[in-house]
Amino acid sequence: MARILITSGPTRQYLDPVRYLTNASSGRMGAALAAAALRLGHQVVIVSGPVAVDYPAGAEVVDVETTEQMLAVAGELFAGCQGAIGAAAPCDYRPRQVNVQKIAKTGGPLVVEFIETPDVVATLGQQKRADQWVVGFALETEDHHFRAIVKLERKHCDLMVSNGAEAINAAETQVALLAPDGEVLAELAGSKEAVADGLLREIDVRLCQPLK
Ligand code: C5P
Repeated sequence: MARILITSGPTRQYLDPVRYLTNASSGRMGAALAAAALRLGHQVVIVSGPVAVDYPAGAEVVDVETTEQMLAVAGELFAGCQGAIGAAAPCDYRPRQVNVQKIAKTGGPLVVEFIETPDVVATLGQQKRADQWVVGFALETEDHHFRAIVKLERKHCDLMVSNGAEAINAAETQVALLAPDGEVLAELAGSKEAVADGLLREIDVRLCQPLK
């Protein structure tokens, strides 16, 4: 039995008190992964951005809103976990300036400068101890395999799940599970629940160590 951290859902980066930039993510994959991990007898803690999806009752859920909050909470919880699965779609840009008051319309264009937010999975990957593992997701619209392997290396992941943009907000998905050497360990397609079951089986066999 392992304790597994799952990041799930989108995050929001505010421009002013009412407007924000976000990513398309329903949290369905995170919920399906959590259910699959629980079925295998693991403990699950989910760090989730704002979603409408219901997470399984057996999972502990910590709600966050911004990428910085997701990083802070996930970073803290990761120390007590054997592994982390990055299924969230954290918003990776934030406005350089956040207005305290609502920005009034002027009739003209609004020019906003965005800067990058921290990468949650890459930070966990850098932090991980020898007895911990990190699995990332790479959603690509082209060169899926190659780009996923580049991300696996850059984010210090142990395995990477490569999927296409068709997965966004969809009930079904199609993924490949990649090893650091580029080997395709599994190709899975079907409902997110079925794919999550398949992924967790692979993660369980390849990465989960019994608690000492
Ligand atoms: O670079 P890209 O966003 O495509 O990488 C996707 C992977 O990185 C996913 O596992 C996602 O959860 C994670 N990620 C993250 N923090 C970000 C951006 C992506 O954890 N700011």
